[in-house]
Amino acid sequence: MSATANFEDEGLPLSAAPIPADAFAGMRARNLARWPTGAEVDIEEAVDFHASLPESKRLAWVMRRAAAEGRCLTQPRGGFGTLELQLELMRTLDTEGHADIVPTTTDSYTRNEQWSRAEVGIEESKKAGRSMLNGFPMVNYGPRETRKLIEAIGKPAIVLAGTAMPRLSAEVGFAAGYTGYLGSGIAYTTSYTKDLPLAAGIRNYQYLDRLAALYQEKGVGLHRRQPGFLTGTNVPPSIAIAVGVLDALLAAGQGVRNYGLELAQTLHLIQDAAAIRVCGELVQDYLGAHGFNDVFTPVTSLHWMGAWPHDDAQAQALVAYGGTLAAVGGAVSVTTKSTHEAYGIPTPAANAEGLRTTRMAIYLARRLRLDALLEYEAEVDLLRRETRPIVDKVLEMGDGDAALGAVNACEAGVLDIPWSPNRFLRSRVMPARDAGGYLRIFDPAAMPFPKEVMAVHEERLRRRAERDGVPYDRELAVTSVYEISEPLARLAPYPWPAA
Ligand code: 5AD
Repeated sequence: MSATANFEDEGLPLSAAPIPADAFAGMRARNLARWPTGAEVDIEEAVDFHASLPESKRLAWVMRRAAAEGRCLTQPRGGFGTLELQLELMRTLDTEGHADIVPTTTDSYTRNEQWSRAEVGIEESKKAGRSMLNGFPMVNYGPRETRKLIEAIGKPAIVLAGTAMPRLSAEVGFAAGYTGYLGSGIAYTTSYTKDLPLAAGIRNYQYLDRLAALYQEKGVGLHRRQPGFLTGTNVPPSIAIAVGVLDALLAAGQGVRNYGLELAQTLHLIQDAAAIRVCGELVQDYLGAHGFNDVFTPVTSLHWMGAWPHDDAQAQALVAYGGTLAAVGGAVSVTTKSTHEAYGIPTPAANAEGLRTTRMAIYLARRLRLDALLEYEAEVDLLRRETRPIVDKVLEMGDGDAALGAVNACEAGVLDIPWSPNRFLRSRVMPARDAGGYLRIFDPAAMPFPKEVMAVHEERLRRRAERDGVPYDRELAVTSVYEISEPLARLAPYPWPAA
C-alpha cells in the first residue's frame, strides 16, 4: 500500500476555491484505501457519535464558551505508542492535570505516513512495556479502537499530528470522535518538511478542512486549529500572524467555521499580549474582507518553543511564566510544557504538573490586562503596520487567491520563515532580540516590511548591540535562540561578578 504524500487529486489545479463535492468523494475513497483501518471510517456513524457527545466534550463549543467568559483554557501535548499507555496518559492529564483540553500527539512514523513502521513500533512498545514511539499511532489503531480514548475522558480531545500530510489521521481522528485537529498547510509545510512543495501541503490541508466542513454540513461543528510555529526557533509575531491569517483564509474557503490560531510565546509580556490582540483582529478583518463573516477565531498561546533549560527550577519558572503571558494576553487557551522539556517526552505525572502550574499562574493573572499601557498600544500599532503589508502583498501575488499567493510569495521570498527546513523557501529573513527584549527583524531579506517599520527595528537592535558591546551582525539572531536554555549561573550570576 502506498504511503506517499501525493496522489492524484482529480487533476484539480491549486486554488483557494472549495474542493467540489464529487472530486472530494474521489479523493476520500483513494485516501481511505491506503491503509486497512480506512475501511472503518463511516462518516454517518461518526456524525451520530459526535451528536451523542455532551457539549463539554466538543472543542468548538468549549472554545466558544471560554472566549465568551474570558477564560484561558489549559491544554498539554502528549502521545505514547500503545492504546493502554495512551489511555493512562489521557486519564492522568484529564484528572490529575485538570486539563481543559486533552491531546493525542501522533508519532513520527504516523506523521510521515509510514504506517508499517508504526506497526513495528506498537509491537516493540508492547514487548518493552513502555513507549517505543514518540506518539500514538492513531491510523494503525483505527477509529474503533481509538474511540476508547474519547470515551475514557470527560473533556474534548484534539489530534496533534505535527504533519503536512494529515489526510488519513484526520479521517481516523474525526471518525474516532476527536473534535479538534491541529495543523495547517502553510505553517506545517514550511516547519516540518524539506522536500514537500508548498502547494502539496496546502492541498493536503484543504482536504482536511473540506472534511471538517463536511461534518459541519451534517450538523457537527469541529474545531480546526492553525499551529503557529513549532520550529524550536524564534519566529517574529508579524510573520506568524501573517501565516495564520493566510491559513485561516484557506480553511474558511473550504467551509471551516471554528478556526483557532496559535502563537508561540516570545517571552516578552507586552509583545506577546500585543501579538494575541493583533492576531485576533487581523484574522477577522481579512476573513470579513473575503466574505467570511461567521468564523470563530480564538487565539491560543504556546509555552516557549525554543530551547529549554535543563534545571528543574528554571524550567518551572518558564512553565509558570507561560501561564502568566497567556492570561495577561487574553489568549483563549494555552498549550503547556513541563520541566521535562529539555530531556524529551514528559511522564504523565510531570505533564500533569506542568498543567497545574500553568493553571495556577493563569488564576493569579486572571484580572490583569495591559490595555491602558502606552508601550502596549505602541507595540499593537507597530505590529499592525508590520503584518498587513505581508498579507496584502501575498494576496496580491495570487490575484486575491491565498493559495496561489502563498506559493508565489514563498518562491519570491516575499513570504519567508526564519530557519525553515523547506527547500522551496528562501529562509533568509532573520529575527533577533532588541534592547527591550522584543523580537525584531534583523534582516528582512525580500519581505515587504515598510521602511518606517524597519527603521524602528534597526534602531532598537543597534541599541542592543551597543549596550551588550557586541557587533551588529547575525550573531544577534543566534544568541536569541539559545539564551533561555543557558544555566542560571550564566544568565543571572550570583554573587554579582566583580566589576
Ligand atoms: N508527548 C508529550 N509532548 C510531546 N511533544 C511532542 N511529542 C510529545 C509527546 N509524545 C511536545 C514537546 C515538543 C512539542 C513540539 O511537543 O514539548 O517540544
